[in-house]
Order: sequence, then C-alpha cells, then structure tokens
Amino acid sequence: MTGIRSVIAAMEGYAAGEQPQAGKFIKLNTNENPYPPSPQVIAAIESAARQGLERYPDPLSTAFRLQAEQVLGVPADWILCGNGSDDILTIVTRGFADSGSLLRLPYPSYILYRTLAQIQDVRWEEISFQSDWSLGDDFTQPADDLRLAFLPNPNSPSGTMIAPEAVLELAEQLPCPLLVDEAYADFAQTNCLELVARSEKIMVSRSFSKSYALAGLRFGFLVAQPTLIEQLLKVKDSYNCDALSIAGATAALGDQQWLSENRDKVLGTRQVLESRLAELGFQVVPSQANFVWCTHSERSAKTLYEELKAERVLVRYMNYPGWGEGLRISVGTGEQVSACLELLKGKV
Ligand SMILES: Cc1ncc(COP(=O)(O)O)c(C=O)c1O
Repeated sequence: MTGIRSVIAAMEGYAAGEQPQAGKFIKLNTNENPYPPSPQVIAAIESAARQGLERYPDPLSTAFRLQAEQVLGVPADWILCGNGSDDILTIVTRGFADSGSLLRLPYPSYILYRTLAQIQDVRWEEISFQSDWSLGDDFTQPADDLRLAFLPNPNSPSGTMIAPEAVLELAEQLPCPLLVDEAYADFAQTNCLELVARSEKIMVSRSFSKSYALAGLRFGFLVAQPTLIEQLLKVKDSYNCDALSIAGATAALGDQQWLSENRDKVLGTRQVLESRLAELGFQVVPSQANFVWCTHSERSAKTLYEELKAERVLVRYMNYPGWGEGLRISVGTGEQVSACLELLKGKV
C-alpha cells in the first residue's frame, strides 16, 4: 500500500449494514422504508431518462431547491443538495474541520461521523448521552480547536430526540457550529428546520433514503444560512447529484400526500413493534424514528441477531464499548415485523 496516507491505512473504514445481494431476507437492519416510493418519482425518473443523459446535470439541483422553497418554505439559496445525506456530512466536515482541529459527537450515535473525522485527519471527542438521552453541559464545553459538533436528531441507534428549544440552547452554548442530522425527522413529532433562521450556528441535514423510500437513489440536502451555503458549494463535487436523482427527489418532495400516508403506516407498525417487544421482556426506548432500539436482560443481543439471521431476518446488532449492546430493528411492513416478532417470541 505504498503512498496511501497513513491515517487511511490505519483506519478500519465505515462498516455499512449488511446489504445481501442474493437470497431472500426480511431486511430490518438499515432503516430503509419497506414500501415503494411515490409513483410520481418513477414517472419523473423515466421522463428525465428519456430527455437524455448525455449532458451533465444541473450542478445546483435548481429544480429541487425551488420545489423545497414551495414545500418547506426554505429559500432556494439556503439549500445545498447532496448524493445522499452522507455526502452532505462529508461536505460539511471538509468545510469546517481544518487540520489539527476537533469535532464533537454524541455517544452512542451515527458511526460515520467518526469515520469522516478519521479521513479528514482530525480529532474527535465523544460525549455520552445522559441516561434520559439528553446531552449535558459537557457537550457544549469550549475546547481548543473545536470546529463542529454533530447531533443526529432523532438519534441512531436510540431513536430518541432532543426538543428544538433544547437544541437551540445547545447551539447557543457551543463555541462552534452544530450540524443537526435529521435523516429521520419525518418520522418524529417535531424538527429543527425553523431554527436555521434563528441561529447562524445551526445547520440541518435531511435524507431521502428513509421517509421518501429512496435509499437506492441517493439524495439528501442541507439547510443553512446562505453565507454558509455559498462557502460549502465550493467544497462539493461539481456534479454531486445526478439528473435522475434530482428529478426523482424533486417529484418525491412534491408528493406530500404520499409522505403523510407512508408515515402513518410506518408509525402504526412502530407502535406494534414497540409494544410487542416490551411484552416479550425487551427494554425498549420509545422511538421518534423508523426503527426501535431494544435490549434484553436475559438474552445476548448478539445471539439473538445471529439466530434471526439464520432464519433469514436481518436486524442490526450494535455494540458500543462502554455503553452496551443491543438490537436496532427497522420498522418494516406489518407482515415483516410480525414475522420477526414471531421468531423472537420463540427465543426469549
Ligand atoms: C443518522 C444518519 N444520518 C445519515 C444517514 C445517511 O443517510 P443517506 O442515505 O441519506 O446518506 C443515516 C443512514 O443510515 C443515518 O442513520
């Protein structure tokens, strides 16, 4: 591996959830939406493909930004589009974390933030959530070279949320900008979008992979004040969103009725999953997302994960050193969740 940067050689790399390409699995491990997207998305992608793919796409995803202005009431120049929200997280990290600096992350949370810090060759500091899944003063303490803090809200793996007013308080106390990662916000009771106008320190990222059922398309976006967007546009790849994903995401955002019906289905199944898991003796954290985090005092999460996998049901086993292990189960269709619960019933 001659020539590769030593930080890259030393790191393990982000381990994404299993994506089996063969065989039939009930897949409840990567928080995808179990339903197909709005038919308007498919029509828009087909139409964009027919218009031709020989030209480069619009570097600014203007059609999407204008749609977001209509639907979300966020001015177009407050929006930066990305190839999935992971691309947004990368752009923001590259934009803020200069050499020798420090990033602050809650713990346990989305593992990718740590990977992004490693690739950027900067330090990171993990601050544990308190037992009620809030963040204490240590999250906002000043520190030398602190450049950026991440807050997944709702958080993964817990599915818990910090209320917008408390997020605003955290941002006001922090000596650096705060990226509120709202990949799961459409499943929650509230969100932090309107805080962006109230504090120039707050940025909000959103994903189309979960609530819009478009994980395979790759689209996400950032909302931040225009002076920041102007700078971050310099960091992104020139054509980071392709013509098909821009068309598909624009159509998806335009079909809010689909979103609301899908959300009702997912939240209905989440309720069933939470209550049945509790009946089976699991400790369940009430979720604001499309997954549920649970632990069992008598059965090892790893064994349960393995046993389910052997029966072709994939859930996510997670072990956070110093915190503990558990299962993160995505909200599938009613049938998928019933099948998973039925198997668990025989094991606990
Ligand atoms: C907290 C969090 N943020 C961001 C993402 C990435 O989403 P996307 O598919 O938009 O890149 C995920 C995906 O699982 C996530 O859990």
